[in-house]
Amino acid sequence: MINALGNPQHVLLLGGTSDIALAIARRYAGLAPGLRVTLAARPGERRDAAVTELTAAGCVVEAVDFDAVDTAAHRAIVESIEDDIDIAVVAFGLLGDPEQAWTDVDAARELAEVNYVGAVTAGVALGARIRTQGHGVIVALSSVAGERPRRSNFVYGSTKAGMDAFYTGLGEALRELGGHVLVVRPGFVHSKMTTGLEAAPLATTPEGVAEAVVEAVRDGKEQIWVPGTMRVVMSGLRHLPRTVFRRLPI
Ligand SMILES: NC(=O)c1ccc[n+]([C@@H]2O[C@H](COP(=O)([O-])OP(=O)(O)OC[C@H]3O[C@@H](n4cnc5c(N)ncnc54)[C@H](OP(=O)(O)O)[C@@H]3O)[C@@H](O)[C@H]2O)c1
Repeated sequence: MINALGNPQHVLLLGGTSDIALAIARRYAGLAPGLRVTLAARPGERRDAAVTELTAAGCVVEAVDFDAVDTAAHRAIVESIEDDIDIAVVAFGLLGDPEQAWTDVDAARELAEVNYVGAVTAGVALGARIRTQGHGVIVALSSVAGERPRRSNFVYGSTKAGMDAFYTGLGEALRELGGHVLVVRPGFVHSKMTTGLEAAPLATTPEGVAEAVVEAVRDGKEQIWVPGTMRVVMSGLRHLPRTVFRRLPI
């Protein structure tokens, strides 16, 4: 259970090699000594390195095989985790090549399967688990890209719009059942997903997102933008006429 100070005993990272997910785990590790972390990710060097890093940070870590596109396995993976899940971070995702994504069927399908379909099936599995436990928080890493998809990466944006709507609704469904969902909408984050890309205005770091997430979970928030000023920016952008919006260099 999350204790009176708002700190969990057990965190599940779905997409456990994500830079943002690992920053969240590190932050909780500093607040909750002996934190248990289940790192659900595809096996490989990145997962091994994440296990080593979190173990060195004082966590008790277990790695579990998880592939976002193997949707049939999601329910069993979540059910197989023995300890109550206090916080589950849904972090897996692909940015993809934006031009390939709208011109190549396989590239589009992969983005849709990982970012939307996999997020939905994992969310259904987490929802079932929270109903059984009677408590639990889901942190869903959405994106401002889903709020008003842009020409420059609208396939990614559309998948994030879909997952954002799903987790917002899941929060409503779990509200009366002891569950809580925090939808997180970061802007540009300096992570391996954005390596080599020019940073957008108001860019932040995985640590910046982690700090905002920990605070928001403690405060029982349902949605946040990171940085917080992004909320105002997106509110303005959402209402711009399409003819103006399409001329913006974003
Ligand atoms: N970085 C940004 O600017 C930004 C902004 C807004 C929202 N977000 C969202 O935040 C989340 C975390 O992103 P990040 O910045 O931390 O990027 P990241 O470090 O690249 O993390 C994404 C993770 O997704 C995992 N993944 C990809 N395909 C998968 C699959 N089929 N099955 C399981 N895992 C898979 C990758 O794991 P492998 O090690 O297996 O490849 C990777 O570690 C994503 O959902 C992203 O869309 C990011």
